Formats: sequence, C-alpha cells, structure tokens
Amino acid sequence: MDDKIEQLRELKRQALLGGGQARIDAQHAKGKLTARERLDVLLDEGSFRELDMLARHRSTKFGLEKLRPLGDGVVTGVGTVHGRAVCVFSQDFTTYGGSLGEVHAEKICKVLDYAMKIGVPVIGLNDSGGARIQEGVVSLGGYADIFLRNTMASGVIPQISVILGPCAGGAVYSPALTDFVFMTKGTSYMFVTGPDVVKTVTHEEVTFEELGGAETHASRSGVAHFAFDNEVDTLLAVRKLMSYVPLSNREKPPIKPTNDSSDRDCDRLRKVIPANPNQPYDMKEVIRDVIDEADFFEVHADYATNIIVGFATLDGMPVGIVANQPASMAGVLDINSSVKGARFVRFCDAFSIPLVVFEDVPGFLPGTEQEWRGIIRHGAKLLYAFCEATVPKLTVITRKAYGGAYDVMNSKHIRGDYNVAWPSAEIAVMGAKGAVEILYRKDIDKSENKEQRMQELQDQYNEEFANPYEAAERGYIDDVIEPHETRRELIKALRSLRTKVETLPWKKHGNIPL
Ligand code: HXC
Repeated sequence: MDDKIEQLRELKRQALLGGGQARIDAQHAKGKLTARERLDVLLDEGSFRELDMLARHRSTKFGLEKLRPLGDGVVTGVGTVHGRAVCVFSQDFTTYGGSLGEVHAEKICKVLDYAMKIGVPVIGLNDSGGARIQEGVVSLGGYADIFLRNTMASGVIPQISVILGPCAGGAVYSPALTDFVFMTKGTSYMFVTGPDVVKTVTHEEVTFEELGGAETHASRSGVAHFAFDNEVDTLLAVRKLMSYVPLSNREKPPIKPTNDSSDRDCDRLRKVIPANPNQPYDMKEVIRDVIDEADFFEVHADYATNIIVGFATLDGMPVGIVANQPASMAGVLDINSSVKGARFVRFCDAFSIPLVVFEDVPGFLPGTEQEWRGIIRHGAKLLYAFCEATVPKLTVITRKAYGGAYDVMNSKHIRGDYNVAWPSAEIAVMGAKGAVEILYRKDIDKSENKEQRMQELQDQYNEEFANPYEAAERGYIDDVIEPHETRRELIKALRSLRTKVETLPWKKHGNIPL
C-alpha cells in the first residue's frame, strides 16, 4: 500500500508543477502568477478542493501522445470566497500555452455543470493561446460546449471572467457571455483577430495593447467592466464583487453588517446642487453620502461615464446603483450609457439585487451620429430593462428629469416602487429654452426686445414646470424630500420592499431590442 500511496503522491506532485519550473519562471518573468497562485489569491485560504487533477488528453495527433501533462492545462474545482462556495477554473499557460483541447474543455464543462447543480457562481481565470491547434475541430467543439453552458447558466448563477493573459479568436466569446469581465493592465488582451491579421485585412498598424488591452476594453469598447494594474488587485476586486452577489437566482444577496447609522443625515447633500441649473456637480458625491460607509464598488467606471453603475449597501442590504452623471456630458443618455445601464439593471434583476436610481438627466443626446447608430433601438434597451425588472426599484430625482429620459429612468409608470424628488427637481417635457422657442417663436419674433421677452417666458415656464410639485400632485412621485433625508427614506423603503412580489406575464422570453 505504501508504494501505491507514494505513486499517488508523485502524480500529484507532478500535477502541481504544471508545465515545469522553467515555464513557471517564464510566467513570473512576464509579471504573471501561475494558475494555482492565482487561485491562492482569489479563494479563502485552504478552501480549494480540486477536481480532475489527474485528467490527461487522449490525442495522438502531431506527436501529442508524447506529452500528456496531468491536468491538461487547466485547474478546476470548488473553493470559498468570504466563506461562500464558488466554482473556479484557472487556465495554466505553462501547459501547452493554456490552450483548450478536448479534455481541457471537458474539465471546464464539468465544473460549470457542478456549479449549476449546487447553485454557486463560476469564476473563470483565462490565460490561454486559444483552441489547441493540434486537436483541430475537437477544440472548437469544446469551446461551443462551454458557450452553451455559459448561456444556460446566464441569470441562474453569477458568472465572472478574469482575463490574465491572451484571450483571442472565438475564445473571447465565453467571457463575453458572462456577467462581468475583469482584465489586468499590460498583461492581458482580448480580440477576435490579432494585430497581424488586422494589418493584412485593414492595413491598420496597431499594438496588442491598443487593440485589445485592458484600458482599451475598459474605456473604449466596454467589453471589460474592470481594469486593474496587477493580478493581485484584479483578483481582490473579484472577491469584493462577490460580497454583493447571491450564490444563485434562488438566493437573496448577502447582508453586509455595517456601523453606519440607518438614521443618519446626509449633510453634504444640503449644498450639492448648484444654484445655476446648468452647472454640473459630481453625482458620485451624492451616492457616497447616501450609501453605507461611502463604500461604492463602481462597475464600468471608465466607460460611458455619463451614467454611473455599481454596487453598494444600504443598512447592509446590497443594492445596484444606476445614476446619471451631470459632470460627464451633462448626464445625457446616449447609446453607450443606455447599453451600459441596461446590462447592469438586468444583472441586478436576475439576481434579486434592488435598484436605486439617482436621476439628473437632460434627455437623450441629439444628433446624426447617435440617430444613425440607432439611439432609438439602444435607448430602448434601458427602457426595456427597467420596465421588465421586478426587484425593488427606488428613484431619487435630484434635478432634471426631462423628456423620454424621465420615463426611462425607473419612473413610477414603469413600476418604480418608491419614487421621490428633491425640491430642486425639474420634471418636464423639456428644458425652458427649448420649450419657449417652440411654443412662443412668433411671440418672440414680434417683440422689440427679443432677449428680454425670451427671458420672461423662460422664467414663467420654469416657475410652472421646473419643479417636482405637478408630478407630486398626480402621484407620479411618492414624496418630495429634503436631500439630507435621502439615506433614511431609502432605507425605510427598502425594508418595506423586502417582501415585494411582482411577476411578469408568462412568455418563453421577451424580445429585448438588441
Ligand atoms: C497549441 C499552443 C497554442 C495553441 C500556444 N501554444 N498557443 N499550443 N495550441 N493554440 C503553445 C506554444 O506552442 C508554446 O509551446 C507555448 O504554448 C507557449 O506559447 P508561446 O508562443 O511560446 O508564448 P508567447 O510568446 O507568450 O505567445 C503566446 C501567444 C502565441 C500569443 C498566445 O502562443 C500564439 O499566438 N498562439 C496561437 C494563438 C492562436 O492563434 N490561437 C488560436 C486562436 S483561434 P512550447 O512547447 O513551444 O513552449 C481560437 C478559436 C476558438 O482560439 C474558436 C472558438 C469558437
């Protein structure tokens, strides 16, 4: 028996070494951790239980039979983050460049199936040369097997992709199907075709980093939700994200104990709105003053900055924040901000995370660029997402709520549960200048002092419409509150909405305007 145990130990020692010390050193030299070191950072200490450590490929093409490393280039299993179970896979670049062949794919599928069975999130750490070339179409089939599982798991368990090396070709579509994509600056990249192919086809000269690096995807394409300077910060941020999300759609999000009083005044909000309604202010200040301990975990921080989305807690209850940002493009809704907001709203709704909206929006962005790219279709995504969401939905109108954007931003009419406005709110079809120019063009043209007449009419319009009281009279908002009361009123509303039940009519699925 001792011999047999020694044999097993030797096999496991080999498996732990992946592609061997020289390749591990090469990985370190690039500023990258190994697949196992990454799991050590991501998971609670000692919590990892590995599956399929002894799996090997069975391919005999191109001499592959001569090298059959244990584990086949991916480490899979179950561990915990903050004491709660998660399934993980971590591609090992030291073995066949982390490339995906039949067995590598089977291991990932097995852990995805396991996660679905036990109802826990999956975190995938990607560092791979893509389809294992020697295994041909079998590798492509393996990817498709994963894509199918990603799609089946969507909305059932949270799925998180962390890109820590190359991720190219069709391989990018597994992360793209998951809920959140994290990248590390300088060492990770994602693209459908690399710089060489780009040069051949479009004659563009572009570096790996410019084409598909972390900053590119976090700020230009929106493919990545997060970009960090190094792998440790990236993996620690994944742990933080996990603290807001439930294990599956069968559970409620975890309560985070807080010392922040639920009854506290938001003193900074008394003066946050500038006297001039056209002057910007930073909506993140509003968010931070309202939430627990000013701890805002922003998602997509560098992309479509005219809308802010992210996680926070209110009296320990996780919430998804969606807010217009007057400090970026006056908080206008355009294509990118609508899509960013819609995707976040749908994640929160799928996983029972209440939505809290802070609204200061002058409308949708006009112009041919937006119209021709389909602002109508894309703006409808945000509208659809809010209409469809059945989680508790709260809205605070801090200043402007103009036009279609008033309806879209979780208005009462689309099933907002608790909608309030500050006294500074302006709820109307459009701003005073635009309205007066349309309604009183002839009157203004006839008057001797056009500017003075224009101003009089605008003042009149503002007095009548640039306030929250007509909406309050009609019950379109539930209350007008003083800014400093915002935290306590939202918390009271959230508590009362814990038992909320709202359903959708039976359907196979809706047809969101994609
Ligand atoms: C088999 C691979 C491999 C692959 C890398 N390796 N990619 N083996 N299949 N796809 C092996 C290399 O042969 C090498 O083995 C080791 O991994 C490390 O690779 P290097 O090239 O030495 O590393 P580096 O210089 O860091 O370059 C990494 C790389 C490059 C940029 C990823 O290896 C590369 O371009 N690989 C091919 C990428 C690719 O085109 N993949 C197919 C994408 S299409 P040795 O033994 O020499 O150390 C795709 C389709 C998916 O994935 C479709 C889904 C629908």
